[in-house]
Amino acid sequence: MGKDKKNTVKREDDALVNVGLKDIANLCKRRGFIFQDSEIYGGIGSVWDYGPLGIELKKAVKDQWWKSMVYDRSDVEGLDSAILMNPDVWKASGHVGSFADMMSDCKECKKRFRIDKIEGDKCPECGGDLLEPKSFNLMFKTQVGSVEGQSTDVYLRPETAQGIFVNFENILNSSRKKLPFGVAQIGKSFRNEITTGNFTFRSREFEQMELEFFVRPGEDDEWYDYWVNARLEWYLSLGIRKENLRLREHRKDELAHYAKKCHDVEFMFPMGWSELEGIANRTDFDLKQHSQISGRDLSYFDTAKDERLIPYVIEPSGGVDRAVLAFLVDAYRSEVVKERQRVFLSLDKRLAPIKIAVLPLLKNNPEIVEMAHRIRKELGGRYRVVYDDTAAIGRLYRRQDEIGTPYCVTVDVESLTDGKVTVRDRDTMEQVRIEATKLKTFMDENIPM
Ligand code: GAP
Repeated sequence: MGKDKKNTVKREDDALVNVGLKDIANLCKRRGFIFQDSEIYGGIGSVWDYGPLGIELKKAVKDQWWKSMVYDRSDVEGLDSAILMNPDVWKASGHVGSFADMMSDCKECKKRFRIDKIEGDKCPECGGDLLEPKSFNLMFKTQVGSVEGQSTDVYLRPETAQGIFVNFENILNSSRKKLPFGVAQIGKSFRNEITTGNFTFRSREFEQMELEFFVRPGEDDEWYDYWVNARLEWYLSLGIRKENLRLREHRKDELAHYAKKCHDVEFMFPMGWSELEGIANRTDFDLKQHSQISGRDLSYFDTAKDERLIPYVIEPSGGVDRAVLAFLVDAYRSEVVKERQRVFLSLDKRLAPIKIAVLPLLKNNPEIVEMAHRIRKELGGRYRVVYDDTAAIGRLYRRQDEIGTPYCVTVDVESLTDGKVTVRDRDTMEQVRIEATKLKTFMDENIPM
């Protein structure tokens, strides 16, 4: 990771980002959100593992996306297509020909840079001369088949979208959907990124959440505006602060080969405004290409208009890892309480990896411990609830604050006689006494799904 830019990045409105990526990476490692992959062997560049808390956060992000894209709607179906695909897919999609970054090596320090990310013609690190830019394809290649010389080169998919396009006919025939309708998919994608760094922001193995929304040509502009707005709203609805999000329209010279229009949802990451998600109007490019190269007719018969057409596609395409990183950065809070620093993650309750921690005030009192275990069991099942007695109560609270647990439930000596427990709120630190028998209802009312 490069130099941490804590407290140094200024937004246009002059506000400051108050957390560096190093703070986030440290917290992620220490508390079990994200680890460097194969760390004991020295790791591998830009590949990450999600630990016990990371997997919960990542799963919650994906569940919320799936809920808003599939469960809350009647016009979207789901799909889980394979990572390996017939290599012709990538010829049709244009990835074999043009999915490449123009790179330039520095003659002096030998470092490599994406030329669209540097200003001027000198090395940004040492000021040395740069070599003539060359094109590097970002797809990982592997082989299918075990017989030497008879194996076929295939690619690890660089986007999940193509799995949707090549299944267009299957989904149409099996679901009987009518335009407009969408197909949603969450899954791994792989890119041999040349310029990496910034923690998980640009990884070589990552997950995407993609929706391909098929519409009638002519209705595409309207649906495009709808999805740009809907995707921005999704991040806001999950608690990302308005001032940390913005929309940026792509210039004509930035547009991908398939796109008529594209907006990025950008987040104010510690290294500056960067892409969180792209919403593109892919026109009829992909379905036309696959029809042509596969020889299969991927047109749609519009019964209302009695005509065949190739649908246009609006594609909101987000990165799970980038969303996780943005939620962590945005939720990070640091404050001084009673002359001690308190760090807490103000995550939306739906995203918090652990929803409730049940803590016994005295771990040597068997009755308190037994009651705390019983409460943990009663509250668990619907979401992750933990029991912890490995430190004094103050420290246990801080630990839960740091991982964003919305509620701590403490069982004390009085609980044994009055049947009440203390419920502490992560953000306000306010404590209320509640009857243990009413805890489940309290949590159901206060922790949305
Ligand atoms: N199907 C369109 C597509 O793949 P993209 O802008 O290349 O478009 C979409 O990628 C999203 O996938 C990005 O906005 C980002 O969130 C995520 N993404 C792309 N490359 C990534 C990488 N190397 N590491 C992490 N996330 C990545």
